[in-house]
Amino acid sequence: MSGTGPKRSVDEITGGRRLRRMRKADWARRLVRETRLGVDDLIWPIFIMEGEDTAEAIGAMPGVERLTLDRAVAAAEEAHKLGIPAIATFANIPMDRKDQTGSHALDADNIINRVTAAIKQAVPGIGIITDPALDPFTDHGHDGVLRDGIIVNDETVDIIARAAVKQADAGADIIAPSDMMDGRIGAIRDALDAAGHQDVAIMSYTAKFASACYGPYREAIGTGGLLKGDKKTYYVDPANTDEALREAEQDLVEGADMLMVKPALPYLDVCWRIKTELRAPVYAYQVSGEYAMIEAAAANGWIDGERVMMEKLAAFKRAGCDGILTYFAPRVARILNR
Ligand code: PBG
Repeated sequence: MSGTGPKRSVDEITGGRRLRRMRKADWARRLVRETRLGVDDLIWPIFIMEGEDTAEAIGAMPGVERLTLDRAVAAAEEAHKLGIPAIATFANIPMDRKDQTGSHALDADNIINRVTAAIKQAVPGIGIITDPALDPFTDHGHDGVLRDGIIVNDETVDIIARAAVKQADAGADIIAPSDMMDGRIGAIRDALDAAGHQDVAIMSYTAKFASACYGPYREAIGTGGLLKGDKKTYYVDPANTDEALREAEQDLVEGADMLMVKPALPYLDVCWRIKTELRAPVYAYQVSGEYAMIEAAAANGWIDGERVMMEKLAAFKRAGCDGILTYFAPRVARILNR
């Protein structure tokens, strides 16, 4: 019996409520905009390596390079000029420095610590975030000590806590462990405090998922070919959100100052739940695979890379994130500073 009754006007249907009114012009859209991405939201992860005055391209991450110490300092200077609050360093360690237990992580003179000290000296105004996880230093590519096919939790925590102290000694402002061992946040807090580093903060990779999106990163730091098996016995199952929340609660109890969710876009629900249920500072790490997907589609002319980049970053603000680790950071800062 459709089409027989009197046709209602749109005003009768909507009761005069027309949401398009505030979309009609740029000035109107700006007035009703609910979230805003700012340069203050950005953390820039950079890749570092031994050597001098060299930058190496990373195949799966067009536009991102591995930098020697001098170039890393220049990158930090550039980031600081752009207004980016902090950078996070990740190291490509030569094969001959790697072993079963990642012992080079404890070397006060390793490339991470030398770069930290050099940046601290040259660019004191930028925050430096370092990762004491063992994967750059192990010859099997796992984040911890591998023994009889098992990543040994407690022994790993002990090494990571000591590596964190070396990083703080070098000048790191925030220790951000990416390994997901049980108890590492509390152990790092204790070790930092015992070494007089009460002011060094901890950003926990609180909900790091066993994701397929880390491949380009492993190419960047040279662990991809080494990794035996997978990381499912220590990273969170992508199917789980309650478990991620329990990790977050635990990390706060153990002393984490900031919580990070990784990868970012597929786990916005986790960001949102941490923000609304635990009301703690929460950060999303837009990982290498997420970067690569945008770059690959843009390079093919299938998407407008810049617009997609900005749209995805806006999603993190909607989901309640206080900041975003993104390889796009300098590009985004330049757009926001225009
Ligand atoms: C490992 C680590 C990973 C990333 C940073 N540290 C993941 C992994 O290799 O398993 C991923 C970062 C990215 O993909 O951008 N501790």
